[in-house]
Amino acid sequence: MSDPIDLAAFPPDFAWGTATSAYQIEGAAAEDGRAPSIWDTFSHTPGKVDNDDHGDIACDHYHRWPEDVALMKELGTDAYRLSLAWPRVVPDGGGPVNAKGLDFYDRLIDGVLEAGLTPNVTVYHWDLPQALQDRGGWNERATAEHLARYASVVAERLGDRVTQWATLNEPLCSAWIGHLEGRMAPGLTDLTTAVRASYHLLLGHGLAAQAIRAAVPAARIGLVTNHSTVAAASTRPEDVAAAARMDGHTNRWWLDPIHGRGFPADMRELYGVELPEQAGDLETIATPMDWHGLNYYFPVTVEDDPTGPVPYAREVRLPDVPRTGMDWQVDADGLESLLMRLTDDYGVRRLYVTENGSAFPDTVGPDGAVDDPGRTRYLEQHLAACARAVRKGAPLAGYYAWSLLDNFEWAYGYDKRFGLVHVDYATQKRTVKTSGRRYAEIVRAHRQGDATA
Ligand code: FCB
Repeated sequence: MSDPIDLAAFPPDFAWGTATSAYQIEGAAAEDGRAPSIWDTFSHTPGKVDNDDHGDIACDHYHRWPEDVALMKELGTDAYRLSLAWPRVVPDGGGPVNAKGLDFYDRLIDGVLEAGLTPNVTVYHWDLPQALQDRGGWNERATAEHLARYASVVAERLGDRVTQWATLNEPLCSAWIGHLEGRMAPGLTDLTTAVRASYHLLLGHGLAAQAIRAAVPAARIGLVTNHSTVAAASTRPEDVAAAARMDGHTNRWWLDPIHGRGFPADMRELYGVELPEQAGDLETIATPMDWHGLNYYFPVTVEDDPTGPVPYAREVRLPDVPRTGMDWQVDADGLESLLMRLTDDYGVRRLYVTENGSAFPDTVGPDGAVDDPGRTRYLEQHLAACARAVRKGAPLAGYYAWSLLDNFEWAYGYDKRFGLVHVDYATQKRTVKTSGRRYAEIVRAHRQGDATA
């Protein structure tokens, strides 16, 4: 049992939520006019995803969403972060709108609202229509323009009921893991393409934010980025410099331009790739936002790696530290420190933790219960870190646990389970885990004014 969480730190209207994303839970990959995304292509390419798993069925949320919404209600949460599937709404990315795709989200949003939950909708969570990838994907400026058009389509349809919008989820992963490391769709390993993708993703964010604003003047618009604290493995100047490069690659490259500072000069030089800049782009990228979403999972420690790939910083595996089933180091202080950096260095005035959570190999007990002490403890430690940050002045307005359900964990397939609710993929049976019950207890305690939980 961890130390009690200082619930009194959180404002009374703090949003308690869970998060999911479309491709990871929906399934129904070929239903009602949905076209393939880069994740359908990638996951159906042998060897790309563990066990060759794919999202064809996933949690079958497309058909079972009423049950999943009821689960959120059962947990007592009042906010839900979800994403919309671009290939359901605009199947070829830039052409005709698919009415059946929009109708699905229309029904889902109504169901979420009827359950008393506030939806927080992410427009793009990695599932680029394959048709756009065939035309160059994020390497091309046109993709950013198509994103803005798709954003205005969904904002016009749902904006009478949805006020919380995020443009993108984790552009770092789309650009660096998808185009440089090749471990995620579209599976490319090219620095020039990766840097151009990073630029076009951020441009797309700005254009989409403007499109949503135009369609829904009352919208509260944000961007969701993922970050890690970065430490040097030693005090050697080479390692300290490597840590600064990794910090640039992981944090500053994303946060500086959206906060009006432009792309960091040291990183531009390190990448040595000409940015596809046009007049006015930096202003678009820095379009004022109403909130910022932080996804946090783990810290990194690096050493100099002069002959390795960009940013010439190799991750060092620290011995004797707690780790999750992803082999990610557990360090709740990292969350506190990133919340303070966003507050103090970047002047963010409204923050959400839009994702935070852990995978552990769960076992279903003979009585059908799923007891997950590792995940429960991770949750408690990170909520305690949020409370510390709030005490220090972080304007934290809500926390979304990743994830409501076990789901398709990208290149790791279904083996890595992040859910507060267990999913038996053979039967699609949902079972609230101990961590889910603990989360419900914390939410209830805060709502009834308890100082700690
Ligand atoms: C984040 C993703 C999310 C989920 C978690 C574990 O990088 O945004 O979809 O896979 O990691």
